[in-house]
Amino acid sequence: MTLSTPTIEPRYFRDVIGHLPTGVTVVAGRDSETGAPAGLVVGTFQSLSLDPPLVTFSVATTSSSWPKVRTGGFFSASVLADGQHHVCQAMSSKQGDKFAQLDWHESAEGTPQITGAHAWIDCKTVQELEGGDHVIVVAEVLRLQAGGGRPLIFHRGRLGGYCEPNP
Ligand SMILES: Cc1cc2nc3c(=O)[nH]c(=O)nc-3n(C[C@H](O)[C@H](O)[C@H](O)COP(=O)(O)O)c2cc1C
Repeated sequence: MTLSTPTIEPRYFRDVIGHLPTGVTVVAGRDSETGAPAGLVVGTFQSLSLDPPLVTFSVATTSSSWPKVRTGGFFSASVLADGQHHVCQAMSSKQGDKFAQLDWHESAEGTPQITGAHAWIDCKTVQELEGGDHVIVVAEVLRLQAGGGRPLIFHRGRLGGYCEPNP
């Protein structure tokens, strides 16, 4: 008897997985060849380990920004705040200078942090693992700081706000 893996249609996969709400995080660094800022939006950023402090996210193998960020070895993760929809739009675009209209500043390593974000995590990439059509990035946390406001949330293909938990 031959067992076959059921085929899951990518759009259906995306529809159902989209029910899992995520934060919206900008991963940004500097292209070591040009010094230019580079980055992208990820919904897959999360903590991996407390001791040592590690975080992870996955990036599509088709990404044009990650190969630039990875050359620098360091990146800043800016967890976007409610109201930063325009940052999400700019940083998930494939066209133009993503940073041109954005308010950002530099970390100690010179990596771009989005001003007004909900939190910032400065990282050093330590490992990249294969994950189907994505690469799983593992990074060491160098320093981190909470900002103000509430987080921006991505759910079922839409950006929205965070609801206060029940008392
Ligand atoms: C809310 C949201 C979450 C996203 N999450 C991811 C992700 O986890 N990994 C990824 O590779 N792309 C993700 N994307 C898509 C990238 O941000 C986008 O494709 C990226 O900017 C591609 O451009 P690039 O060629 O500049 O890398 C996400 C986009 C949005 C709007």
